[in-house]
Amino acid sequence: MNNGEIVLRAAHVTKTYQEGKLRTEVLRDASFELRRGETMAIVGASGTGKSTLLHILGGLDTLSSGEVEVAGRALSKLSDRERGRERNRSLGFIYQFHHLLPEFTALENVCMPLLIGGVAIAEARKRASALLDRVGLSARLEHKPGELSGGERQRCAVARALVTRPACVLGDELTGNLDEDNAAQVYALMLELNREIGTSFVLVTHDHVLARRMDRVLELRAGELHEIAKKA
Ligand SMILES: Nc1ncnc2c1ncn2[C@@H]1O[C@H](COP(=O)(O)OP(=O)(O)O)[C@@H](O)[C@H]1O
Ligand SMILES: [Mg+2]
Repeated sequence: MNNGEIVLRAAHVTKTYQEGKLRTEVLRDASFELRRGETMAIVGASGTGKSTLLHILGGLDTLSSGEVEVAGRALSKLSDRERGRERNRSLGFIYQFHHLLPEFTALENVCMPLLIGGVAIAEARKRASALLDRVGLSARLEHKPGELSGGERQRCAVARALVTRPACVLGDELTGNLDEDNAAQVYALMLELNREIGTSFVLVTHDHVLARRMDRVLELRAGELHEIAKKA
């Protein structure tokens, strides 16, 4: 499902940290366009700015110059409130650490983005439990994160990122803490959603097997983004 619509665009993104006299240029002129249904891996050595880039793409961190557009809307031109709404509507996040809310159950955690987006609670519970079922957690709906295994928590976080059926999912080392079975289950679900509803993915990963399954692979090297692989 690739109708050519651009879901995410980075244009000349730079990010510089300035601490006293110390200036660190983490990103330099990073640009790419991601179309609907495209999957992309971002690889690169530790400390090259992969997480920083992902946070900037999701409007969770500010850039020093350049622009990010989500679904055709420039993030810098939106108010905080509009940016929050666009994030909720168009993006899903899977962080390196799951960031589930500890005091809420798995079901409540997955319902949260829907409730924030204005979906009624009965409908939210229905959609959230259907997705938790697909990641193999139908028997864990009422468990809190502390009562789940690491793999279960990560699968719950994946369900939370996908439940709004976002145009684009941003994932940071999402399988770093997963065993092979859990990782395979997570990839399978992502690819199903990619085919079903054209969800695009940007995945930061160390996993070369996963990277090669994506349509494109971009490498961050010395602050610059290089496209190193693209499927025909
Ligand atoms: N708040 C900050 N202040 C200063 N430097 C930072 C800050 N956050 C990250 N960095 C630096 O930015 C670089 C990229 O970090 P990061 O995006 O986490 O890399 P990666 O995810 O590729 O491992 C690192 O050199 C890191 O030390
Ligand atoms: Mg990182």
